[in-house]
Amino acid sequence: MNKKRVLSGIRASGRLHLGNYLGAVKGMLALQENPEYETFYMVADLHTLTTPYDPKTLKNDVREVVLDYLAVGLDPEKSTLFIQSQVPEHVELAYLFSTTTSLAKLLHLPTYKETLKLHPQHSTVALLYYPILMAADILAYKAQSVPTGIDQEPHIEITREIARKMNSQHGTDFPEPQRFVTEGEYVPALTGEGKMSKSIEGSYINLTDDLETIKRRLAGAPTDSGKGENVPEKGGVANLLIFVELFQGRKIRQEYEKAYTGSGIRYSELKEGLAKAIFEELKPVQERRKRFEQDPELVEKILSKGAEKARNVARETLDETKKAMGLV
Ligand code: TYM
Repeated sequence: MNKKRVLSGIRASGRLHLGNYLGAVKGMLALQENPEYETFYMVADLHTLTTPYDPKTLKNDVREVVLDYLAVGLDPEKSTLFIQSQVPEHVELAYLFSTTTSLAKLLHLPTYKETLKLHPQHSTVALLYYPILMAADILAYKAQSVPTGIDQEPHIEITREIARKMNSQHGTDFPEPQRFVTEGEYVPALTGEGKMSKSIEGSYINLTDDLETIKRRLAGAPTDSGKGENVPEKGGVANLLIFVELFQGRKIRQEYEKAYTGSGIRYSELKEGLAKAIFEELKPVQERRKRFEQDPELVEKILSKGAEKARNVARETLDETKKAMGLV
């Protein structure tokens, strides 16, 4: 049977948080366990260079993501795990793809504009090039499914456009990939505004946080008097209820909603129960992480094997593309 391929990646900007976990990693895990798919998961270290970063800590930051991958249960026996820059074919393919993409299209991408707002001093060509490299990451494996959060949809749309243009202009056979959607495709910030993100202090919970840290972070989430005519649809309380549903289930969320319009919610109790439920899910992840932290040689072996396997596939796609474009 010809398996469908999957590719996903996460930038190396520190340890993974619940947004990465629910939006991307849970989908990565689900597809890894599905025998119809062949899964490739990388650390997008080249994409990390598109916003300010510290070259002195980059290697360690990459390692942190690899450890988180292994800790959550990405299994090198089932998935190919690798580091993006160790497969230089992605960059070459990205250059070839750039010949089909207009500058105007990239300049108008919402993700480009948002990143530029956060880092106004950083309007580099690499940042503009971000979606093209991402398209190359995906299409190097002819992946059909890409587990990511909803914020990545514009990039996957560009990937589909590139695939269509390459196929019509050069007769290649790239698939048009779809995002693999999880229940947590948009995880809100604990601050009550926007999405959970590493760049907003107080907005996130890391996968490596212990129970006390989770409690402390949840304590900072804004609430209200706990009572009212209608359950809030936006802001701190609405977000807490989303977390309750994601970690404790719909039934408990409904109980809190009933309490809100009735006798009232006691947020100290809600946060206590939620913190415990989050930690319950993270505890086995943290235990597995410790085992890999103690065996850097094993991690190194996994990554070099992964890079070799990824390179073989990406090389084949690159060769085909070069031939189709008249280079060889
Ligand atoms: P990054 O590191 O910004 O995000 C990694 C993944 O986490 C998801 N995510 C969220 N999902 C739901 N709610 C949130 N609050 C939240 N925050 C982050 C993101 O959607 C993403 O799936 N460009 C990619 C990295 C990449 C890539 C690729 C992904 C490079 N090449 C090829 C897939 C395929 C990114 O956003 O990384």
